[in-house]
Amino acid sequence: MISVFGSANMDLVAYTSVVPGRGETVTGRAFSTVPGGKGANQAIAAARAGAAVAFVGAVGDDAFGPVMRDTLASAGVDVSRLRVVPGSSGIAHIVVDDEGGNSIIVIPGANGTLTGPSEEDLAVIGRSDALLLQLELPMEAVVAAARQASVPVVLTPAPARDLPYELLEAVDLIVPNEHEAAAITGLTDPGAALKALLDLVPEAVITLGSKGALYGSRSGERLRVPAVPVKAVDTTAAGDTFVGALAVARAEGRPQEEALRFAATAAALSVQRKGATTSMPTRPQIDAALQ
Ligand code: ATP
Ligand code: RIB
Repeated sequence: MISVFGSANMDLVAYTSVVPGRGETVTGRAFSTVPGGKGANQAIAAARAGAAVAFVGAVGDDAFGPVMRDTLASAGVDVSRLRVVPGSSGIAHIVVDDEGGNSIIVIPGANGTLTGPSEEDLAVIGRSDALLLQLELPMEAVVAAARQASVPVVLTPAPARDLPYELLEAVDLIVPNEHEAAAITGLTDPGAALKALLDLVPEAVITLGSKGALYGSRSGERLRVPAVPVKAVDTTAAGDTFVGALAVARAEGRPQEEALRFAATAAALSVQRKGATTSMPTRPQIDAALQ
């Protein structure tokens, strides 16, 4: 089982050929409302990739809350630890350009009310193979979860923020993209950044978009996994899909390289579809693409 302590957002997505600058108005091509948020995305990616998953988080008592709960539940995610709090759910305002690239503004809403896991949350987390964390909750909540979890902790350090020592000390595997890796280490070369990350945590994967991913461990293992060549339509949640699938493959005890290929295959399938939780592949789809 995989547990996720993280955010749920409603993604309000504008698809446009021209991304507006300050003071500029443009006409876009399409709009969609899609459940997302890095925590919910990783939970759904892991569930579709074949694991039992529990999600610990919060939604607001607005119209979006029940939609996000239903989306998680329909993917088979245990939502018994999902709180409903007064006020707005988390919102992500997303612009997707014609190359499938995105820019995002996140308004935390209900996610911002979490201060840490409760005793009941920790009991659920303690029954899992790994706890997945991201940085869309208040830092004190993320630190509390990482330090109190009795299972391996996987951190996606996104959106990029300063990482306190108390958090890094409790992380087993960190999975930044290349920009987050550079922000953490001050090094733009991925190989050098990977080495610096391993001074902070025992294992690291740097995802490199269409260039694949780099893995390293303190025990000296180094792997480079290429991306699967595909035409990207929308890369939103590629990183979340990668992490969710990677956690499943590791929980199944697969060798490191095989686990990374499984994750890269799931992520490549996700970039060919629009949206966050709408883009994640199922286990049969990942297995078929791996053949
Ligand atoms: P996002 O923030 O958009 O969710 P990210 O920046 O966290 O993504 P990336 O490094 O862009 O993460 O992508 C994660 C993984 O997804 C990559 O390591 C790769 O395996 C896969 N991926 C991303 N973009 C592509 C692409 N254009 N083609 C194939 N695979 C891709
Ligand atoms: O990682 C993708 C996610 O980031 C989106 O679903 C959006 O909610 C933002 O949080």
